[in-house]
Amino acid sequence: MKNLVNKNNFPIFSGRFKKMVYLDSAATSQKPKEVIAAEKDWYENHNANIHRGAYKLAEEATELFENSRQKVADFISAPSAKSIVFTKGATESINLVAGAWARYNLKKGDTILLTEMEHHANIVPWQLLSKERGFKIKYWPISQAGELIMSNLDELFSGVKFLSLVHISNVLGTVNQIEKIISLAKKKGLVVLVDAAQSVVHLPINVVKMKADFLVFSAHKMLGPTGLGVLYIQPDLFNQMKPYQSGGEMISEVGFKSVKFKKVPWLLEAGTQPLAQVFALNKTIDYINKVGLKNIKEHSRSLTDYAYLKLSEIDGLTIHGPSAKKRLGLISFSTKIIHAHDLATLLDRKNIFIRAGHHCAMPLHEKLNVPATARISFGIYNTKEDVDKFIKELKSILKQWSQPIKKQF
Ligand code: ALA
Repeated sequence: MKNLVNKNNFPIFSGRFKKMVYLDSAATSQKPKEVIAAEKDWYENHNANIHRGAYKLAEEATELFENSRQKVADFISAPSAKSIVFTKGATESINLVAGAWARYNLKKGDTILLTEMEHHANIVPWQLLSKERGFKIKYWPISQAGELIMSNLDELFSGVKFLSLVHISNVLGTVNQIEKIISLAKKKGLVVLVDAAQSVVHLPINVVKMKADFLVFSAHKMLGPTGLGVLYIQPDLFNQMKPYQSGGEMISEVGFKSVKFKKVPWLLEAGTQPLAQVFALNKTIDYINKVGLKNIKEHSRSLTDYAYLKLSEIDGLTIHGPSAKKRLGLISFSTKIIHAHDLATLLDRKNIFIRAGHHCAMPLHEKLNVPATARISFGIYNTKEDVDKFIKELKSILKQWSQPIKKQF
């Protein structure tokens, strides 16, 4: 298995934590030097507020901001840059759809469909809104193997107005059959939101091929800056969008008693935007394109397959979710020998960083009947050696914790 990129291109791996094995990219990814440099470059050479100033620096800042919108649109094959709204993260993107679309288009008597493998960000906004609007929430069940049950979709979708589902589960790693699902959902007239927070850094995304109505992701999980997210809106829905937050920049005219709004996407971008971060996202996409999503996908596939094989050889360990070939980028597991939190703490002592807990998916853990899982997840900088070091330490901890406790007296 070849290394995909030079770890030294990610400054954190040669700084204070140069010995770390970072296996928590599903929580957030590390940043290449090009992305860090871009944020600095913005403040040193481009900083002015956009869509306001009549001077050179501000005009250039506006152009750079709108160029980034086009870059994001191209990255996910969106038909128009107007389909791209900047938010502060995937969570805010979902909240925006709830507040600016669903609030006005879903009502008492309607049913929406979520899946049992959703992150809290794709559950709680709908629970809150359903209290206000009176619609019902139905959950799409998963199988023992951690996959959406695909039989009887006709029945599952019938009477449903809106489906919101994850592309790759942040706990199970399952890659949902998104094109097949959306194509069936569209035949039934559903509006579909895709949470691509975990998939966008592992797979090429084509919103047109996918036929998504809304698609959300965060920049920070795809090697980009924190504090920035993306919402894609399918152009047919532009006219159904109402204001989300209100204030400066989302209006075309304000009087003491009246207001006229701008159109999508600017309607949905009130206030000063995360300018440096949007600029850095542009450079992030350049970096990803240079490495190549095809190569990234192959690399994620090799690491996932290899780690899955190694973990499945360990006695007493349960891997949650489907077989290696049906997942990508991450593996969660549990064992009766040691609690996930203790395991993560002991691995930390060896400079191996993994995530433990419910990963913002408590209902899914309830379904799996485990209070917590340990999760390893991969970025483009991870290597086979990282997996080997993790497996070696994991085995040693499990061996130690399997010994009967020595008599003290
Ligand atoms: N949603 C992120 C994770 O799964 C934070 O770790």
